[in-house]
Amino acid sequence: MTLQNKLPQIAIFASGSGSNAQALIEKAQKMSHSIACIITDKKDAGVIQRAKKLNTPVHIVSFIRVEGNSYQQDKSMHEEIIYNVLKKYQVNWIFLAGYMRILSKNFLNKFYNPKTKQNNVINIHPSLLPHFPGKQGYLDAYSANVQESGITVHFVDSGIDTGLIIAQEKFQRKPEDDLKSFSARGQQLEHQLYPKVLEKIFNNHEHLPKGLL
Ligand code: GRF
Repeated sequence: MTLQNKLPQIAIFASGSGSNAQALIEKAQKMSHSIACIITDKKDAGVIQRAKKLNTPVHIVSFIRVEGNSYQQDKSMHEEIIYNVLKKYQVNWIFLAGYMRILSKNFLNKFYNPKTKQNNVINIHPSLLPHFPGKQGYLDAYSANVQESGITVHFVDSGIDTGLIIAQEKFQRKPEDDLKSFSARGQQLEHQLYPKVLEKIFNNHEHLPKGLL
């Protein structure tokens, strides 16, 4: 898979509602580009309908446990199926948007960009990293009673939410906030920040990460 294509070929991985995927697809389309494809591991994920409405191909690749196999064997088979789909689209960038699986080092290595010394795989995380990594950033930040929280876009490495930070936005907690209003404030920012990063990649993808930081 070449990283040298003139225009980035971007896949979005999502397991859930897909509001970030939608914001990214819409941004690409506004720029007269498109997202190559959506990969989801959940056959009933909201992202499927959102992507279809926006004429973006969706591939559902369910994670299957095979009797007698180890979890690692099943995981590498799952990633291999996904990789074969990505090859068809010549994908050279991946945006994770609520994808609830950890990608293996072996998979990430396929997207290693020697120019930037980063994987061409990025993620949006609902906290101000390095605070509150993991599956439920909003809940963890809200429960810890922080007065200021935020969102982070970062490169993906083999740790959990540990990759190089590309961009962050902060928001304030309001006294009347419940978890829902707190998270909604963060999500609004997500829908602005992630498309901005996408725009930079479409405009400047040979010069990352310096151009992004
Ligand atoms: C977002 O809050 C994102 O930060 C996190 O997962 C959530 C996905 O939401 N990684 P959606 O599916 O894009 O609506």
